[in-house]
Amino acid sequence: MTETVTDPAFLTGQYSAHNYAPLPVVVAHATGVWVTDVHGRSYLDMLAAYSALNFGHRHPRLIAAAQRQLERVTLVSRAFDHDQFGPFCAELAELAGMQMVLPMNTGAEAVETAIKVSRKWGYAVRGVPADQALIIVFDGNFHGRTTTIISFSSDKDARDEFGPYTPGFVSVPFGDLAALSRVLADPETGPRVVAVLVEPIQGEAGVVVPPPGFLAGVRSLCSSHGALMIADEIQSGLGRTGHTFACEAEDVVPDAYLLGKALGGGIVPVSAMVSSREVLGVLKPGQHGSTFGGNPLACAIAREVIAMLREGTFQTRSAELGARMHERLGQLPEEVVSGVHGRGLWAGVSFTSRSGREVCEQLATRGVLAKETHGNTIRLAPPLVITESELDWALDTIEAVVTS
Ligand SMILES: Cc1ncc(COP(=O)(O)O)c(C=O)c1O
Repeated sequence: MTETVTDPAFLTGQYSAHNYAPLPVVVAHATGVWVTDVHGRSYLDMLAAYSALNFGHRHPRLIAAAQRQLERVTLVSRAFDHDQFGPFCAELAELAGMQMVLPMNTGAEAVETAIKVSRKWGYAVRGVPADQALIIVFDGNFHGRTTTIISFSSDKDARDEFGPYTPGFVSVPFGDLAALSRVLADPETGPRVVAVLVEPIQGEAGVVVPPPGFLAGVRSLCSSHGALMIADEIQSGLGRTGHTFACEAEDVVPDAYLLGKALGGGIVPVSAMVSSREVLGVLKPGQHGSTFGGNPLACAIAREVIAMLREGTFQTRSAELGARMHERLGQLPEEVVSGVHGRGLWAGVSFTSRSGREVCEQLATRGVLAKETHGNTIRLAPPLVITESELDWALDTIEAVVTS
């Protein structure tokens, strides 16, 4: 008799493309900050799906919003309007202090949207000669995985052997205003620059915070050179840093926000470019879109996310508990930890000689889930609903593993 293999981990290894190397934990249930694996073992989720779970797993308000909408209508495509769409756009625009919204699904699609819109704005409004537009990005960036986006990545794994690459991007060191200024002042490149695309804090790079004044400097250089400042807040936005938008830490208002991850409440993918009428107004019917972008279920959930963020409590929790987390992480021994960076409930911890992967594997055996990045760094981004005692327990566990 042949036996059917039903072990999920085996099936993943056998049938899924190996584009990820997950920790050996197979999740079956999750509530709040806790996930439970197929063997009934609990783990505290200190990654929160790269901040897509800012409100925790299955937040009751978000599940209720999803269930209400599931009973009504889930998809119409943008061929027709629906009663969640206009209110979603208006509420998100208001939260961001902007005028218009273009919804998509994944973060990468929001970034692609910004690239297309900036180029079109450059040609239509700025008078840049056809096909000459340039967008400035920063070394160490992570904006997604499409062929155009990886064309300006400095990560070899993300980029190598996926060419030919999309032209039209110039990368300068993150945090280096002089380098940005040189590209903008160069008579060959400067007049062609339509936008500067920046993560206010580089998440994938290891939660790298730029030097104070950097974002304000980018804002002012963009304004003086007539280029759009596009803030990719897909990971940094929506409460993660103790602010609704990470740009707020320097009182900076960009020309556009790119949002994703937490906007879908950890339930469905929802992303958006949020900007002014002048910028998003360049698009005409037929020039951009997505079958699922702005669907009724996505809009209903995102509207609840926006309502929760309007109350401000998640931002406050992130700021307060984040201060506690950074204080504790800052006390880890220097011989083992070479740096702790981040803001709010978001931290990168770099090790002098240990691999991030090995630390994450040890953390998992003790019931804490985190994720390594770039060799010797781990990222911590717990759901913002974490309690003080849960956070303390996670930090005790991290301390025990790091000093073992
Ligand atoms: C800053 C930033 N932009 C864009 C993306 C891409 O988002 P997605 O994976 O939903 O395409 C990510 C994902 O980690 C990100 O951190």
